[in-house]
This record gives sequence, structure tokens and C-alpha cells, in this order.
Amino acid sequence: MKRSTVKELLGSGIINTEVLLKGWVRTRRGNNQVAFIAVNDGTIIHSIQVVAELAIFPEALMKRVTTGSSISVTGKLVESMGKGQSVEIQASEINILGDADPEIYPLQKKGHSFEFLREIAHLRFRTNTFGAVFRIRHALAYGIHKYFNDRGFFYLHTPIITASDAEGAGAMFKVTTLDLNNAPVGEEGGIDYSQDFFGRPTNLTVSGQLEGELGALALSSIYTFGPTFRAENSNTPRHVAEFWMIEPEMAFYDIRDNMDLAEDFLKYLIRYTLDHCNEDLEFLNNMVDKGLLERLRFVLENPFERKSYTEAVEILSASGQKFEFPVKWGLDLQAEHERYLVEKHFKRPVILTDYPREIKAFYMKQNEDGKTVRAMDVLFPLIGEIIGGSQREEELEKLQHRMREMNIPEDELWWYLETRKFGTVEHSGFGLGFERLIMFITGMNNIRDVIPFPRTPKSAEF
Ligand code: 4AD
Ligand code: MG
Repeated sequence: MKRSTVKELLGSGIINTEVLLKGWVRTRRGNNQVAFIAVNDGTIIHSIQVVAELAIFPEALMKRVTTGSSISVTGKLVESMGKGQSVEIQASEINILGDADPEIYPLQKKGHSFEFLREIAHLRFRTNTFGAVFRIRHALAYGIHKYFNDRGFFYLHTPIITASDAEGAGAMFKVTTLDLNNAPVGEEGGIDYSQDFFGRPTNLTVSGQLEGELGALALSSIYTFGPTFRAENSNTPRHVAEFWMIEPEMAFYDIRDNMDLAEDFLKYLIRYTLDHCNEDLEFLNNMVDKGLLERLRFVLENPFERKSYTEAVEILSASGQKFEFPVKWGLDLQAEHERYLVEKHFKRPVILTDYPREIKAFYMKQNEDGKTVRAMDVLFPLIGEIIGGSQREEELEKLQHRMREMNIPEDELWWYLETRKFGTVEHSGFGLGFERLIMFITGMNNIRDVIPFPRTPKSAEF
């Protein structure tokens, strides 16, 4: 017989048929005549109840039906008399696929802390919360591809190993095959990278943007969706060293088109999750964050506030609020400032534009005022910055001038500059942090709990 998933069984509406179920035992209760076994296979938040008359099963077998063990069950799918489920399986045959010794299986009781579950990340998928989070993560990945595909964007695979530093911010992981204990020394005393695998220093990418621009300047609209790496030593609930980023890049888009796309995209993804992951969201709303569904609907129904960095600084300065970090034109905004604007002042998502050029990357379009660039950050409740992007500098001379000012070697980025030499056009793009999006949509408040195996300073287990 073909195996049916729990999702299929609970949704089938077909009863009094013979079915085969395979899954993991979540709980077991009952009396000396009958056992009620909740079996979950991860296909849906719910478990299905298996009813086993003890008289027809050997005692030795039933002893092994414990929390965490995997079993296969053949039986009849029947309407359930019990509360909380519509159907159950009247078991005629049970086999143990894998035991889980109750003495040592760590997921015995409900309500383990997220911190504890992080230490057993190899097993935490088996909890309701992490099942829900990772089903939603999948649905969002799918929804992202659907969004762009439906709008004629092409998925471009940009390299993971690069020789350039896209953000010009340092904090990169080196990639090398040299023996660190015996690295070749060059003429100037430093490491001789000409003997390394690529014949030059290379890193893990911090962003696919620069290569993404090359694609957009031929294919019109592209997006990347891949892992990115930052060796910042920031131990916060919103930073990981390895995260996934979605970076659309569009030719013939100015900053306003870019903002419109970002807002539409984020709203689409929230709508998509509400439509496709309703039961998982309900669970998270009940168990993790009671304000979740309300917050998602609120963001969906209200236009994002659009303001300039300068206006934001004025609002923050006039707020009378005590901040840990100073507010002054020219200084970067911190998470506390961003969250004040979003949660206290505007009470809705905010898109800030036109940041001081000194705190932004070299590739951003320079404004006529000579002080600001056409940057945009999208700020969300509880998260702070969820998207960073900009219109790009498409004028060769201005770009070269800025690179010189910032000591960015032109010869390393000769290929980037050539797109401004040959048929340059106005273009824009942004980067959405996938994990920050999942945090917002699931209500999970630590980024380590929305990526299967988080990579953070001093932590690379699993
Ligand atoms: O603002 P960032 O650094 O922008 C870029 O990398 C641009 N090249 C994007 C573009 O214009 N194509 O990063 C973009 C987003 C942030 O807004 C944030 O959501 C996320 O990436 N992000 C991180 N997420 C988790 N952990 C980290 N350490 C992150 N750093 C950035
Ligand atoms: Mg940023």
C-alpha cells in the first residue's frame, strides 16, 4: 500500500478506507485497554491520532511505541469521536521503524526553551514551533521565486567566492587553500597569494549585487537568492554570519520605482504566507506571539511611510526620547532609532531615503546636494532594517570619482565600470534579508531560530 501523509489523511475527507501511515510518535496516552498515539510526519502542524486496542498487539511491541520513535501503522481511517480531531486511524498493524530510548531522547516534555532547542538543532525540527517555522521558510522561498517569475524577472546565480568586496565594508571570510602554518611569503613580506588556488586573495561574498547589476544591464530585471557571509563580530538577535539574501536589480528603475517594488514585494510575501500557511501562523500566533496575525494584517493594509534620512533625524532629535547612541546628522541610525520611528512615531513600516554619502556604499547614486545619496532602507516593527537598497550611480565619472575618494581600487572592479562605459542606464535594486523577513512573519524574536543551523561568532555546530 502507498503511504499517506498526515496532511493527506487529515484533508482527504475519505473515511472508512484502509491507509498506511509512517511518522514519529509525539505523545502516547491511554489506559490498559487502548493506546492513543499522536503521530506526526512534519507535513502539517497537526498530528493524527492512532487508536490501538492493546489486546491485538504484543506487549513487547507496544512498549517500544514511545515519544520520538518512528512507526508505521496500517489501519482504517475513521471519523473520530474524540475532541480536537475529525479523523483517526483504527490500527490493525503497527511496526517499529526506529526506537527512541525514553531515558535519553531529549524531547520528552513540551515547552522546552528556544535556547535549549538551539543546542539540539538536529532534533528541533520535530517540535511544533520549528516545524511551523521551517514550513513557512519553505513557503516564502517558493513565494519569492513565484513573485519574480510572474513579473518577468530572471533568477541569476551570482558567485559565492569573489575577489571583490561589494559593500566596501570589510568583514569578509577569506577563502584559501594555502597552508596557514606554512604560507608562502611574497617579495614584500606578506602572504604570496599568487600561489593560492585562484592566484589572488578571495572571500565569501557579502552580496551578489555587483554581479547582479551586470545581469540587469542586459536582461532588464534579475534577482539573486543565495547565501551571503559577513564576518562581523555582532552578537545580536538580528545578525548571523551566514544568511540568505534576495537581491532584485532592475534596469530603467529609479529610486521611486525601487521603493514601490520593495513595498509591493513585502506585502505580497505576507499575503502569500497568510494564504498558504494559515494553520502554522495560527499556531505561532497562539504559542509564540499573540500579536502576530494582527501585526501582519496591519502591515498589509497600510501604506509604508516614506521619509528622508534628514527628516528622520529631525524627528528623532525633537522626540525627547533618551537613546543609547547619539542622533546627529551624518551618523548612522541604530536599531533603537529605527524602531522608535517605526513603533512609536509612525506606527507603521517606514522607508527612509537620501542618507549621507559618508555612511553608505560607493555605488549609490549621488544627489545634486553633494551630501546625500539615493539610498533606501525599509524599516519594520520589531526588526528594524529589513531591506537595504539604492538607485545606483550610472555615470562613469561620478562613480570613478567616488571610488577614488573611498580608496576602492578601480582595476579590481574594471568589469563593473565597463557597464557604465557601454550603454549605461539608470538602474536600482535592493537586498532583503531572508531571515529577517522570516522573523517578522513568524514572530520569532531571535534570528538563530529561523535558520536551520545558525552560524554566529564562536558557533558553527551541526
Ligand atoms: O543593507 P545591506 O548590507 O545591503 C546590501 O548588501 C546591498 N548590496 C543590497 C542591495 O542593494 N542589493 O544588506 C541587505 C539586508 C539588510 O537590510 C538585512 O535585512 C540583511 O540584508 N542583513 C543581514 N541579515 C542577517 N544577518 C546579518 N549579519 C545581516 N546583514 C544584513
Ligand atoms: Mg544596510
